[in-house]
Amino acid sequence: MLAAFVSTPAPDDPLSVLEVGDRPGPEVPEGWTTVQVRAASLNQHDVFSLRGVGLPAERMPMVLGTDAAGVDEEGNEVVVHGVVASPGWTGDETLDPKRTLFSELHQGTFAERVAVPRRNLLPKPAELSFAEAACLPTAWLTAYRMLFVKSGLRPGSTILVQGASGGVATALIRLGSTAGYRVWVTGRSEEKRAAALALGADQAFEPGARLPERVDGVMESVGKVTWSHSIKSLRPGGVVVTCGATTGYDPGAELNRVFFTQLSVIGSTMGTRGELEDLIEMCRVTGVRPQIDVELPLAQAREGFERMLEGRTAGKIVFTL
Ligand SMILES: NC(=O)c1ccc[n+]([C@@H]2O[C@H](COP(=O)([O-])OP(=O)(O)OC[C@H]3O[C@@H](n4cnc5c(N)ncnc54)[C@H](OP(=O)(O)O)[C@@H]3O)[C@@H](O)[C@H]2O)c1
Repeated sequence: MLAAFVSTPAPDDPLSVLEVGDRPGPEVPEGWTTVQVRAASLNQHDVFSLRGVGLPAERMPMVLGTDAAGVDEEGNEVVVHGVVASPGWTGDETLDPKRTLFSELHQGTFAERVAVPRRNLLPKPAELSFAEAACLPTAWLTAYRMLFVKSGLRPGSTILVQGASGGVATALIRLGSTAGYRVWVTGRSEEKRAAALALGADQAFEPGARLPERVDGVMESVGKVTWSHSIKSLRPGGVVVTCGATTGYDPGAELNRVFFTQLSVIGSTMGTRGELEDLIEMCRVTGVRPQIDVELPLAQAREGFERMLEGRTAGKIVFTL
């Protein structure tokens, strides 16, 4: 079957090891089933996988891709929940120390077919296209949990989203503005800042800009280059929710500000099956939809990876089959 995959890691030149070609069909463990993939969206996670981050060489060749929408063996249209709990795990699967995402231990979703645990299938509402549904399980679910489960901030609060055009950033802008938060954004170019305003942000700033006032919460996925600005932008008692560190894991901790102004630093990863169900329902009821930058046939996956690596994003990049 056609798939986008990696056979050997390349920490410094990820594109050089991206392969788009033939892979064997999925092996289906007990209790699992297969999905005919119609759309799968690209995440920074897939770039990390090419670099070998979180994906050791022993597990390769590995089909990439963490989320998908498609058709199950009974012909139902489905969304695939991306967090795979270990056998016997009960409760919040994001807290399972042995949980994995597709493409970490089990083959990923950038393929014509993928094997998934039966419990990871959710019905896709007819109102959502396959491409829109394929954006939800990773970037959009992560943004949903950051805002509505982890931050503790109520609608009416002011939040700063670091980054304007990425998958998680555009999800935070759309979800936050739909739910009644005042959303401020930093973006690296005038074009990206204008696009964020069009998506629903109230104000957009250059990275590192002094804000008109301090904010209640910061949504962080950028990491090292924005961390100091995030901490300095919070009001006393404010909260920063971090889900990622695209630009590096080791910024200064700014502990003096954290304790003196009594800040909370909260980590957040993906979301539960129940939260994905709620997100899908939120999309259905409110009409909020993922911002899709571009849809490309899977055979042209390289072009999508190039765009992400060069920072040429304007929402989600979706591969279709
Ligand atoms: N923990 C989890 O479960 C989870 C889930 C999803 C994602 N993540 C993490 O969240 C991060 C974002 O993922 P994504 O898929 O949304 O990535 P993406 O689409 O490539 O977006 C990258 C974002 O980072 C911003 N950015 C700012 N400065 C940057 C710089 N110097 N270099 C690169 N980007 C910069 C970009 O801002 P501009 O708009 O200004 O270009 C853009 O908004 C990744 O680190 C990913 O691993 C974690």
